[in-house]
Amino acid sequence: MYYDTAKNNHGLKHNPMKALVTPRPIGWISTLDKNGVANLAPFSFFNLVSDIPPCVMFSGGGPKDSWKNAQDTGEFVCSLSTWDLRYEMNASSAEVGPEVDEFAISRVTKAESRFVKPPRVAESPVALECKYVSTTTTPRHEKTGKIHHLVLGLVVGVYIDDRFIKGGLVDTGAMKPIARMGYRDYAVVLPENVFTLGLPELDARGNVTGPWEKVDA
Ligand SMILES: Cc1cc2nc3c(=O)[nH]c(=O)nc-3n(C[C@H](O)[C@H](O)[C@H](O)COP(=O)(O)O)c2cc1C
Repeated sequence: MYYDTAKNNHGLKHNPMKALVTPRPIGWISTLDKNGVANLAPFSFFNLVSDIPPCVMFSGGGPKDSWKNAQDTGEFVCSLSTWDLRYEMNASSAEVGPEVDEFAISRVTKAESRFVKPPRVAESPVALECKYVSTTTTPRHEKTGKIHHLVLGLVVGVYIDDRFIKGGLVDTGAMKPIARMGYRDYAVVLPENVFTLGLPELDARGNVTGPWEKVDA
């Protein structure tokens, strides 16, 4: 099938877009408002967009406290969402007013950040402490008028729980990160599902010679 996104004439029960770009990492964004009230919410329109310099992006549909606070105060923190914290992450997405501290309603603990003022989620094994860089917006959707605000941040400080550093490497699989798929579906990375692939090898003619799956003769 094909469909036109301006018309959304896919004929399916729900808009399939989010089920098509998947799994999306979940940035668990904490901010402070101008009065110092903490805010915490998950964003799956989120990613690391560069490593040197390290930058992340998250995108809010409509008026969201997270992007407004990041803009107003110039700082945000992104904690890693994991299998062990799935219910807490989900609870923090509750649509509550800006005066509500979602750390409390989602039953997670605040840990002081080192480089920025917003706290990180103490129970999460990773936190990226960010300085706000800029906001850009999507075009307005013709039919609905909806718009997203994309916030770009520079990661200035990184927290990693030492228990997940093994042999000089970060054991990401052991953290069991969770990711968003379409509808209400999620994916989880388990250690046994992590696989490694070397860089492509080229012969003198520029043909890729490997690595390919080893097939026994
Ligand atoms: C797993 C998950 C991912 C989400 N991703 C996004 C997202 O990328 N953009 C968005 O606008 N809302 C997203 N939401 C909904 C927000 O978390 C929710 O609207 C939240 O209340 C926003 O909080 P805020 O107004 O404090 O920023 C997501 C919710 C869940 C559970």
